[in-house]
Amino acid sequence: MEFFIDTADVAMIKKYYNIGVVDGVTTNPTLIAKSGRRFEDVVKEIAEIVKGPISVEACSTVCDDLITEAKKIAAYSENIVVKIPMTAEGLKAVKVLDKLGIKTNVTLIFSANQALLAAKAGATYISVFVGRLDERGQDGMEVIQEVMDILDNYDLDSKLIVASIRHPRHVTDSARIGAHVATIPPEIIEKMLSHPLTDDGLRIFAKDWEKVQKG
Ligand code: G3P
Repeated sequence: MEFFIDTADVAMIKKYYNIGVVDGVTTNPTLIAKSGRRFEDVVKEIAEIVKGPISVEACSTVCDDLITEAKKIAAYSENIVVKIPMTAEGLKAVKVLDKLGIKTNVTLIFSANQALLAAKAGATYISVFVGRLDERGQDGMEVIQEVMDILDNYDLDSKLIVASIRHPRHVTDSARIGAHVATIPPEIIEKMLSHPLTDDGLRIFAKDWEKVQKG
């Protein structure tokens, strides 16, 4: 299973990439806006740090514009993956970009049928937003299971990204289902790393080790 970090915060990307637990990065316009920096500068700085795939969103709405925008974004670095919206125009663009060798991540997917269409169009990655589904009272992880079943049934090449992760359980469930990638916000990676019993255990060991030193 691969882990991407879902942020445009360069300090956070450095922190977790250096631990060795992060394979790639996903961004979106909201995350770039939060960074308060120029889009191109942030993307290029991330690309200097991370060798794995970096998803960057194209925001045009019409196929030809999406292709032009995707070509421009892809030229920033060889490991850029262009996020394309889950629309008919978006899927048309994915088909062309696939032939041009530009990697795509079809984003804002909320159903198994949308995922199937994106996979058929030739998307490199398909991003299903589980947190936003859960927030509407739907079961995000059920959609993840359905998408994995479909990809396996037909040997489709697209990799499933579990996105919009809200808590560590989403990551555990994704791993049990066998999803290819989870894209995780920094605060959830932090929660995955720690456990109160680990902290307690460390405190006790440190205290006892001190006693041993004193003889
Ligand atoms: O980057 C895509 C996705 O993970 C963002 O999800 O719902 O936290 O905005 P959300």
